[in-house]
Amino acid sequence: MYTLKELESIVNRCFRCPLSKTRTNVVFGEGNDKASIMFIGEGPGYYEDKMGRPFVGRAGKLLDNMLKAIDFSREDVYIANIVKCRPPNNRNPLEEESKICIEFLRWQVKIVDPDIIVCLGAVAARNIIDKDFKITQNRGIWYKRGKFNIIATYHPAALLRDSSKKKDAWEDFKSIRDMYAETYGEKKG
Ligand code: URA
Repeated sequence: MYTLKELESIVNRCFRCPLSKTRTNVVFGEGNDKASIMFIGEGPGYYEDKMGRPFVGRAGKLLDNMLKAIDFSREDVYIANIVKCRPPNNRNPLEEESKICIEFLRWQVKIVDPDIIVCLGAVAARNIIDKDFKITQNRGIWYKRGKFNIIATYHPAALLRDSSKKKDAWEDFKSIRDMYAETYGEKKG
């Protein structure tokens, strides 16, 4: 079993798919390496690619605020993406790119060993829950897969584009808070 540091150094040297050719930085993921909750986005955007960190742009600020609203911070959770390198012009990652890169995510999940996984948006949900996942229909539902409790909610970028979705996203975040409390009582991390 790798440590997160070892895995990160492997991912930083990855050239397995064409996204590696256009990246500025690999965005490995960050947060509490023993987090109980793992948030999974789609892939780095412009600012994430520049800084090498996940969710640091406008969508990231919104994610921070939503975490705060359920009494969590970035330091409590672990945040990663389906693909670690920015797709050009922020297009969705191709199936082939996701298939290659998700191997690294599987290792991250093994190492961090969360109990709760939150898919941010349809790309994450389709790669993790079901390839035909419909985010508007199936968000907010808990899926039990092995030891994991998995839920999908809207991607924060979708909430920035359409604020009428925020009400449902807030319900999802409250449900995440409740699942956490059910699993751990008041313990954090
Ligand atoms: N959107 C994502 O899906 N991931 C990031 O890290 C940033 C924006």
